[in-house]
Amino acid sequence: MNLLVTGGAGYIGSHFILEALSKGHEVIALDNLANSEEKTIDRIKEISNKEFQFHQIDLIDKQKLEKVITENEIDIVVHFAALKSVPESMIDPLKYYHNNINGSLSLLEIMIKRGINKIIFSSSASVYGTNHISPIKENVSLEPINPYASTKVMIEKILEDLILCIKGFKALNLRYFNPVGCHDSILLGESTSIKPTNLFPVLCSVAKEKKDKLNIFGNDYDTHDGTPVRDYIHITDLVDGHIKGIDWILKDKNKYQSINLGTGVGFSVLDVVTTFNSFLEVPIEYKFSKRRAGDAACVYADNSLAKKELSWSCTKDILRMCEDSWSWYSKNLD
Ligand code: UD1
Repeated sequence: MNLLVTGGAGYIGSHFILEALSKGHEVIALDNLANSEEKTIDRIKEISNKEFQFHQIDLIDKQKLEKVITENEIDIVVHFAALKSVPESMIDPLKYYHNNINGSLSLLEIMIKRGINKIIFSSSASVYGTNHISPIKENVSLEPINPYASTKVMIEKILEDLILCIKGFKALNLRYFNPVGCHDSILLGESTSIKPTNLFPVLCSVAKEKKDKLNIFGNDYDTHDGTPVRDYIHITDLVDGHIKGIDWILKDKNKYQSINLGTGVGFSVLDVVTTFNSFLEVPIEYKFSKRRAGDAACVYADNSLAKKELSWSCTKDILRMCEDSWSWYSKNLD
């Protein structure tokens, strides 16, 4: 298949391209490089030993976007490009609406104009908000609690409307839980150019520096050890869900679906620390501080729909997630 991949230099986009190339797909990658680097594209070419097109384009720039789309035969769009920092979205919500919504609208308008009718959309478990009891199924109400999550809900809704209004249009929303880890080669991982706020990169930077303690945000939650529980998923398992998504979207009967990509198993912050400490030479020290605003106690996926619809399952456990993250960050964090 010919795949147009937006956000191709990003963490998930880059891992997806690598896997898609190895499965024989042709890739046309786009990225505005706002939070990513062109060297990631070179890395993908180096690891895969394959060539593909890369265009530094902001989706909002319709003229440039249309030119690339017109010059290529495209079967499926895989749409990763988005701003994704929850704290930043609380500080500058309009930046998030502008970038994520307008970028998607621009992409969709040109897709429709050029007769491209299949899209796999990078959504997020943050669409569920913090009120649902885990395991979370796809059909619960969507209750986003920050602008970033709201943009994901809105784009899902736009896609749902397009299914209603445009004959032959197909969309698959993949709702990610907490992606971590890196490619087996350890040559590709999450960019370290932005100061980390997510647990895994913060934890690895604490382990590397050996001077600070990890700040655990709250130990008074209603969970087995008092710290919040999340569904961490290895990036290569997450990417495999997209590869299976390509088969899904090509089947005649399938038109529109939202599917969770999570392992279905939750681990607390302390579980994660213990797992890291099982292989680190110098164990991570931690201290408890007050809860972080907007955090839920326990969030993990019901992934039965992914198993049924995509014939997908996870292969990498929490130890592997921690080991791979450490291999990547210990090499790449300053
Ligand atoms: C966050 C985003 C979510 C996004 C996901 C991507 C928020 C509110 N949500 O989810 O939209 O899809 O990242 O991976 O930002 N923790 C600590 N100390 C730290 C950092 C984190 O104790 O220094 C704890 C947090 O309180 C949380 C857990 O670790 O309970 C995981 O945090 P994080 O990696 O930021 O992920 P989420 O908050 O689940």
